[in-house]
Order: sequence, then structure tokens, then C-alpha cells
Amino acid sequence: MKILVIGSGGREHALAWKLACSAKTEKVFVASGNGGTAAEAKCENVPIAAQEELVQFALREKIGLTVVGPELPLAEGIVDRFRAAGLGIVGPEKKAARLEASKIYSKAFMEKYGVRCAKSGDFTDLDTALARAREHFSAGAPPLVIKADGLAAGKGVVIASDFKEAEAALSAFLQDRSLGDAGASVLLEEFLAGKEVSVLAAASVVAGKGTILPFISARDHKRRFDGGRGPNTGGMGAIAPASDFSQAAQNDFSRAILEPTLKGMKAEGMDYRGFIFFGLMVRNDRCYLLEYNARLGDPETQAVLPLMDSDFADLCVAILDGSLGDFPLKWKQGAVCAPVAAADGYPGPYRKGDIIAIDAAALAKTGAKLFVAGADSALRTSGGRVLAVSAFGADAGEACTAAYRGLAAISFAGMSCRKDIGREFTG
Ligand code: AMP
Ligand code: GLY
Repeated sequence: MKILVIGSGGREHALAWKLACSAKTEKVFVASGNGGTAAEAKCENVPIAAQEELVQFALREKIGLTVVGPELPLAEGIVDRFRAAGLGIVGPEKKAARLEASKIYSKAFMEKYGVRCAKSGDFTDLDTALARAREHFSAGAPPLVIKADGLAAGKGVVIASDFKEAEAALSAFLQDRSLGDAGASVLLEEFLAGKEVSVLAAASVVAGKGTILPFISARDHKRRFDGGRGPNTGGMGAIAPASDFSQAAQNDFSRAILEPTLKGMKAEGMDYRGFIFFGLMVRNDRCYLLEYNARLGDPETQAVLPLMDSDFADLCVAILDGSLGDFPLKWKQGAVCAPVAAADGYPGPYRKGDIIAIDAAALAKTGAKLFVAGADSALRTSGGRVLAVSAFGADAGEACTAAYRGLAAISFAGMSCRKDIGREFTG
């Protein structure tokens, strides 16, 4: 089977690699890919971005399976286009991708179907939103979470600790349109304390029937610096599983979040044959849903896929042919740690164009796998998050030790990383 992966980051490198591991996979095209996918066995980058051209490419090359990595093409309806052309594609239809693309829609869905989540209200008018924020802080309250409605590449959530911060964020979103239309409406949401856990899952729901199959848990570390300090980023590293996600919490997740989500997808008549990501806040084994993503997480995918002991191409086929409920999904016993190396300056303006030097023999000795996120085919840095190194271990401690040894075999000018990925709970 020939496969097409859409996207160009670290998640897509991990997807292409895992798909290429299947004996059934003849070739994996990646549109547009990066320097890592260019060098991966069975993989080839194709420089196509426009959706209609991707459809034509898939028809011409007789692609049997397309897997979409990022949210933007999903929100723009790539799945609807491929299906209209009779092509098999893993991802939610455009309507269902709103579970990520609109936080207001998503919250309304959670409330309608009783998915446990933070209380919130939505606003388009600045003065009304400011009045609500003022009222919140006059009660000496905890922080207030401000969320832009639309897709904002990780810049749409502000946790305001006082009215001044809330005012600045609301004015930027609603008045100055700092995020364009994505910030034309906002949610003001109750702050939830706890530990974050990511649950990635495969969903196969169509015509009111289907199932959601959760993967092993994971945890992203979003803050730039050790100990959960510094600005928010796209994710500085991941560990799988999240060792403190207890059996009681997993049961609570199934009952309070997964089951009502599945019920809602069926009741809304969604065609959701793709991946779904549950961003959870967990406290005393009680789970709250912070957000859905209509795709796999990045960098969680780089930690979760290496732990998967099943054929990922088969899993994708099962999502599409309705047999997901019978799929024998297996996991390796152990853990995978995946720290990210970032470019100097990230998450602000960052350095680009530096050569990544890899000591392949030293890297191979550690057993770690390199997933490239932001580098061109000559392995020159081009993104803020440049790469992740994933390593397996019998437990989180061993996995982390191996991953950091692997990272030591790689260098580029201005390279930096967090040193505490997977070692303890930090944000
Ligand atoms: P993003 O993934 O960029 O949308 O950022 C969302 C982040 O904001 C989450 O990973 C949490 O850390 C935080 N967050 C979102 N909603 C809440 C909430 N209700 N309470 C506390 N933290 C939240
Ligand atoms: N790691 C969180 C995300 O992919 O948005």
C-alpha cells in the first residue's frame, strides 16, 4: 500500500516512520515533510500544499491511505475533499473538526452531552467581557482563563492572574484583533488546578455508530524552562505513559469524558474517522476536559507511537473500515521519553539556518530515535522546535536517561532543551 502523510513537523516524522515500519507499506509520501522524513526508509517528500493538488496527487499515485497530521488542513476540509474523490483518509470531516477549530462550539458540545469540563461563558463584546472579568476578580478569585475561539497555533489561551492581565488579553483579542478572526470571540473559563494528562485516541464514528479506542496516556511539558517556568510553547517534550494517571483516573476519564463524547459524536451524526486528543486536567483522580484536538498531539505522538506494539497502518485501515472495535491494540511494557531541542530564542523570534550535526554511531548506541520537526532536507534548522529524541526504557527513569544520552549525540548552534522532561510533574 502507498501512503500519504500530510504535514511537516515532528509528529508527521513519527507518523511516517511508524507507517513505514509496517510490512504492508510500500512507500510513504510526506507533503511536505522535512529533513527527517526525507531521510527515512521508504519515505519521500512531496512539495505540495494546496488541497486540490494533494487530491490529484493521491489519485495519480494510487494512494491507498492518507493520514493528516495538523489541525489546519482538517479545519479547511481536506477530509471532505479526499472522500468526495473516493480516497481513504484518516481525519474528521470539516464539521467534526470544529471540536478543535472552535472552542465555543467545542464547549457547547461538552455541555450538551455532559462531558465534564470547566464552567465558562462566551463573549464577542469587549465591554461585556471586561465587566465579567472585573466581577470575577472583585471576588478575590483565582486566575481566569481566556481562550480565543479559533485556531491560534498555541497563542490563543491566556491565564490571567489579575484584572490588568485579563484586560490586556481581552483588548488584544477582541479589539486589536491580534489573532485576526480567531480572536473575534472568546471564552472566559474557570481556572482548574491539577496535573495535565494527554490521551490520544483513534475514533471511528460514522452514521451514528462506532467506537473510540484510547491510546496509552502521555504528558506534554508546555513551559519553556525547567520546573514548568517561563512562557508557554508548542511543547518542549513528552513522556508516555503519564505514570500518575491512575487506574481510578482512567476509569473516571472513560465514564465522564470518553463515553459522553462518543455519544455526542453519534447523536450529532458526525463522520469522525480519525484521531482525537483529549487534553485533561486531573485532580484527585477526577478528570476535566480542557480541550479536544481533532488530531494527534505534538510532541506526544513522538512518545506514544514508539510504545505502540501494533501495526499502525492496520490501525488506520481499521479506523476507516469500521473494524476499530475489534482492533487488538497492544503496548510495550515500559516508557518512552521524548525531549525537544529548540532553537535559540524560541518561543520568541528564533535563529534559523544552523546545520544539525549528528553523531550517528553515538546516537545508535543509545537506542534513541531522532524525529526532526523544524529542519530542511540539508538538515539546517528552520523551526523553533527543531527536533525530538525518543527513547524507550523499562520505566520513565531509564527512558529519560537514554533519551538525554541520545540528545547528547546531536548539536546545532544555539540548541537548548529542558532537562526535566518526564522526570516529575512539571507544566
Ligand atoms: P493550548 O494547548 O495552547 O491551547 O494551551 C492550553 C493550555 O492552557 C493547557 O495546556 C493548560 O495548561 C491551560 N489551560 C487551559 N484551560 C485551562 C483551565 N480551565 N484551567 C487551567 N489551565 C487551563
Ligand atoms: N501537545 C499539545 C498539542 O499538540 O496541541
